[in-house]
Amino acid sequence: MSDKVLVCVAWPYADGPLHLGHITGAMLPPDILARYMRLLGKDVVMVSGSDTHGTPITVRAELEGVKPIEIVERYHNNMLDSLVGLGLAYDLYTHTNTENHKAVTQDMFLTLLDKGYIFLDSMTQFYCDHCQRYLADRFVEGTCPHCDYDNARGDQCDHCGRPLDALELKLPRCRFCGATPHPQETEHYFLDLTKFSEPLHEWLKDKPHWRSNVLNFARGLLESGLRPRAITRDIDWGVPVPVEGFEHKVIYVWFDAVIGYLSATIEWAQLQGKEERWRDFWQSEDCQSYYFMGKDNIWFHTIIWPAMLLGYGDLNLPYDVPANENLNLEGRTFSKSRNWAIFVPDLLERYDPDPVRYVLTATMPEAQDSDFTWRDFVRRNNDELVATYGNLVHRVLTFAYRRFDGQVPQPGRLEAADHQLLDAMTRAFVDVGREIGACHFRAGLSAAMAAAAEVNRYLDVAAPWKTIKSNPQAAATSIYVALRAIDSLKTLFLPFLPKSSQALHEMLGYKGTIIGRQWIEEISEDGVKHRVVRYDGSKNVGEWAPSHLPVGQKLRDPKPLFVKLEDEVIEQEVARLKGGGGH
Ligand code: MF3
Ligand code: ZN
Repeated sequence: MSDKVLVCVAWPYADGPLHLGHITGAMLPPDILARYMRLLGKDVVMVSGSDTHGTPITVRAELEGVKPIEIVERYHNNMLDSLVGLGLAYDLYTHTNTENHKAVTQDMFLTLLDKGYIFLDSMTQFYCDHCQRYLADRFVEGTCPHCDYDNARGDQCDHCGRPLDALELKLPRCRFCGATPHPQETEHYFLDLTKFSEPLHEWLKDKPHWRSNVLNFARGLLESGLRPRAITRDIDWGVPVPVEGFEHKVIYVWFDAVIGYLSATIEWAQLQGKEERWRDFWQSEDCQSYYFMGKDNIWFHTIIWPAMLLGYGDLNLPYDVPANENLNLEGRTFSKSRNWAIFVPDLLERYDPDPVRYVLTATMPEAQDSDFTWRDFVRRNNDELVATYGNLVHRVLTFAYRRFDGQVPQPGRLEAADHQLLDAMTRAFVDVGREIGACHFRAGLSAAMAAAAEVNRYLDVAAPWKTIKSNPQAAATSIYVALRAIDSLKTLFLPFLPKSSQALHEMLGYKGTIIGRQWIEEISEDGVKHRVVRYDGSKNVGEWAPSHLPVGQKLRDPKPLFVKLEDEVIEQEVARLKGGGGH
């Protein structure tokens, strides 16, 4: 395994608050991986940002009668708060409306143009006479030519997931006025994907570590044949085309957004005061890059972006693209427009981040679609998180705190059962690590839970609460062993439940942060301020290894890590959802 890890997270459109689909689909998995890799001592950079361009933003702006920049600023800020609230530790979360991003995008465009991978051609696009404009991408809707879904958008069909060319839509209609648009000539730049068929085919040959759903999808796209794709648009919001006479056109949002991975790494390096550091993650063979996203983004990350990287040259291709399937909500597809969604800002008003992270990881749609239900949320919180982990920690810590003078007791000689538990903890590091390293996050979490269950079984037998009277030395030994096991659980759960692990770390008497520190910062670029989330992933005591808790360490007054939820919560939340009150 290489020493450096670049963790790339799909860029959410800044057109609304984050919802659970974003979190499980694209954002939580990379955070788990990045946290684990940092604990291993790897040099990790995790980047992303808000996708601020394209028709998703301008459609929203027009509907509200405001400028696109207002939409972008509102939701970028809103998303920053959600990310911090959920403890998603980006080394940099920026956005695409920066000078740096514009420069990197235009450089990539011009280089590909120079090398003959981009060419100019005229094409037909839908034009709406009533609105007097070209209908790019989401400005036009209609029926999908592949699956007959009647709400397909001009860029892709949400039902079958296929990328579309707007002209293929059956029964096209203008997004704004509903009129039937007509095809009309316009000039655009095209990325010549045909030139990349062979190299992409070669590249996809040996990907045994990829998820089969992702690999099959990508290979299927290649087999059905690549065609040149228009990468500029007749809209007035985006990165201007850097060619004389074309400045009034913009680069297609997807072309600029994927470049964000690179531009954000460059911005991150600049913020570190080490301008060249981005090269370690893009040009060194000793770096593996992971890309996380929901399944409808696979095409852009396994075909378009790799083609751009190949064309540009001297930049690493993705090492893995562990895209997730879809998360449904109470048996139905998430839908922002139909208000069938759970939004993060709203959720964080009522719940701590870690139970949310726990349930979303436990039900993550890794190999197939999965369903989020409030019944399941309450059950997993109560019967798993609280019952197996939270209560264990609380029982042991309060007992140690009250009966052993608020410190880690001096054990007697360790018996076979004690050694067995500590060995099981050591093995858990191997098991959990192997699963996370393979991007099997559900399995990683359940391996950590299995380790917690071992500690419960050990205590059921050792029963220090009983032996304390008859044999205080034996009680001290088992509490010592249990504390060390819990100290190990703290690390095993850290990638999944960072806030609770930090709280436990402190209750166990340690000082400082286990690992890293996260904050929102306002930075200034040519006099323009923009806000980003930053993280200093510096290693502290949090290494990926079992506990070395010192005898005599002073504990802190223990508080429960998690709270039990009442059954009424289920009904209340479902009612809130049905009332569209998630916003
Ligand atoms: N904004 C796109 C979406 O929400 C995702 C872009 S991911 C990118 O579907 F990084 F590739 F841009
Ligand atoms: Zn119209």
